[in-house]
Amino acid sequence: MSRLSGKRAIVTGAASGIGRASARAFAREGASVVAVDQAEEGLAETVAMITEAGGTAMAVSANVADEASVVSFINTCVETYGGLDVIYANAGVSGGRVPLAEQTVEHWLGILQINLIGPFLCIKHGAPIMAGQGKGSIICTASVAALRANAGGMPYAASKAGVVSLVQTAAHEMFGSGVRFNAICPGLIETGMTKPTFDRARSRGTDGKIGQLNPTRRNGEPEEIANMALFLASDEASYVNGQSYAVDGGLTSSHPFVPKG
Ligand SMILES: NC(=O)c1ccc[n+]([C@@H]2O[C@H](COP(=O)([O-])OP(=O)(O)OC[C@H]3O[C@@H](n4cnc5c(N)ncnc54)[C@H](O)[C@@H]3O)[C@@H](O)[C@H]2O)c1
Repeated sequence: MSRLSGKRAIVTGAASGIGRASARAFAREGASVVAVDQAEEGLAETVAMITEAGGTAMAVSANVADEASVVSFINTCVETYGGLDVIYANAGVSGGRVPLAEQTVEHWLGILQINLIGPFLCIKHGAPIMAGQGKGSIICTASVAALRANAGGMPYAASKAGVVSLVQTAAHEMFGSGVRFNAICPGLIETGMTKPTFDRARSRGTDGKIGQLNPTRRNGEPEEIANMALFLASDEASYVNGQSYAVDGGLTSSHPFVPKG
């Protein structure tokens, strides 16, 4: 039996990177997937990959920062697949590194609206449906930037720290409901978001240095985050609630150090 057999799942940010890998993994393991993103071309590619592999998926073009759109894609899942068992609220933006004096309130609000309010809206409108079924799993993508400085800009890091709090507080807000809330804190993963970093390193010939401070000595792949999302989505994680897990090759396990050699 497949690990998500019979489950109805929404994955946001499914047009690229971690969201695409997760949507594919969920479908491979038997879930019917609503793939959500605002990048329509990439979204169509993800759904084609899933259906060509024999899975079930549909594309919904939506902005996760907009409440009416979130309500709409959740309703689409319930109406199309007959219920809602899993949401992976993964869509996010980095916002770049803007010097403190140049950071505006609009810049902060734009990032918070997608990275933190987006997952909040998925919880607000998805959790009550799951609670009505007595069971469900909502997973959010935070980041190692939520745990330590120097892995993104200030509003990005704050938005991701907010996500860590969101899954803790949601677990208690929905006490006894049967719905679980957890977050994943990825390390450096090669995706659309980090493409400029990898491109720059390759063009300079310094790509061999990527991961040099990481005990696993490399960057991560989207599938390695999808594997954690798959576990948290499945009934294998039935006693896992209100937690955030770093999937970073060990990057955040250490104090700062000078690498040997
Ligand atoms: N790549 C990394 O190293 C890394 C590390 C830590 C956390 N993350 C987080 O992982 C998540 C996935 O990012 P990724 O690395 O796969 O990057 P990505 O750019 O490849 O994918 C992000 C997707 O989110 C979509 N998106 C952005 N804003 C949206 C909106 N308002 N509505 C709908 N869709 C929207 C984009 O169109 C894109 O397809 C993000 O939350 C990101 O912050 C990534």
